Amino acid sequence: MADNMGCTTSSTTAVESPNVMTRNAEAADIVNEIKTHLRNLPHVHARTSPYQNQNGAPERIKLEDSQLCWKNSLEGYNPTDYHASVLLREPKFPWADVLDPKGIVFNALDQSCRHDRSSHEGVYLVNEANRPMNPRGRCGLSGRGLLGRYGPNHAADPVVTKWKRGTDGKKELNQDGDPILEFVAIQRKDTGDWAIPGGMVDPGENVSVTLKREFGEETMASMELSPEDQEILDKKLTEVFKEGIEIYSGYVDDIRNTDNAWMETVCVNFHDEEGTSFQKFKLAAGDDAGGVAWLPFTKDIQLYSTHAIFIETIYKMRLCLHGKN
Ligand code: BGC
Repeated sequence: MADNMGCTTSSTTAVESPNVMTRNAEAADIVNEIKTHLRNLPHVHARTSPYQNQNGAPERIKLEDSQLCWKNSLEGYNPTDYHASVLLREPKFPWADVLDPKGIVFNALDQSCRHDRSSHEGVYLVNEANRPMNPRGRCGLSGRGLLGRYGPNHAADPVVTKWKRGTDGKKELNQDGDPILEFVAIQRKDTGDWAIPGGMVDPGENVSVTLKREFGEETMASMELSPEDQEILDKKLTEVFKEGIEIYSGYVDDIRNTDNAWMETVCVNFHDEEGTSFQKFKLAAGDDAGGVAWLPFTKDIQLYSTHAIFIETIYKMRLCLHGKN
C-alpha cells in the first residue's frame, strides 16, 4: 500500500465501503479492489512529457518507478518550477492560490477560501518551503502547472449508467453473453478524450452537490435553460442522484499533476436498472464538452485519465449485483 511518500509496500489492506457491503459482499470486494489497485500503481500520466502533452510546455525530468519515493534521496533532482501563466495573472482567480504558499495551512479545511486542503489519501508531507508533496512521489516538475491549488485539487465524477436494451425492452448481450452497460460520457474540449462528465468541487461545496451540478452543466447544458426549465431538470436530477455507490475516492494519475499539486476525485455510480429514469433527459453538451453520448463499455475502451478503470469496476460490480439477465 502507498504511504503518501510515493513508496509502495507489500500490504494490500483495502478500505471498506459499508454502503456496498450491505448489498453484496462480492460487489464490495470489487470496489475495494480498485482502491487498493490505484493506491499501489506508480503514477504514469503524471510523468508524461512535455507537460500536458503540449508543444512548448516544460519538459519533466525523466524518472524510473524506483525514483519516485520522497524517502529516497535523488541526487541532482532539480525540476523546473512551472505555474501556467493563467495562474499568475491579476486579479487572482478565486480558484487559484497565490504564488508563494507561505502561510497556507495544509492537510485541513482552509477557512480563508473554503478550499478543502485535506486529502482522501490521509496526511501528506509538506516541505521546508511549505510546499505540499505529491503523495505518489516525484513527477519531474515542481510548482502547480495548470492546477490552481497547491496540494489536492478536488474533482467529482458522476457515472450514470443503464443496460443497453433493444426496441423490445430486453437487455442486449455482448459476445460473452453478458449484458452491455452504457454510461453518459462527454468529449473533453481540452484533450479531445471521451470522459466521465466530472468537474471541480467549488469552494465549500458538498461533493454530492458537485456530482449533480457537473452532470447537469456538462450533459444537459443546464446553464442555457430558462430558470423554470432549470428547476424542472434539478428536480429530476435530485430524484436520480438520490442513491449512488461510491466507487473510488483518492489520488488521480492526471497529466496536470506536479510535485506540489495533484488531482483527487470522488467517483460515484448512479445506476438505472430498469432503464426508464433517464428517458426524460435529452443529452446536450455543455460549455466544457465537445460532445455528449451514451457510450457502451467495452474492455478496450480508451478514456481520459483513469476513467476506464472506474467504468470497468462499475461494470463488474453491476454484473455482480444484478446477475447476467
Ligand atoms: C475532471 C474529472 C477527472 C479529474 C482527474 C477533472 O478535471 O473533470 O473527470 O477525474 O480531473 O483527472
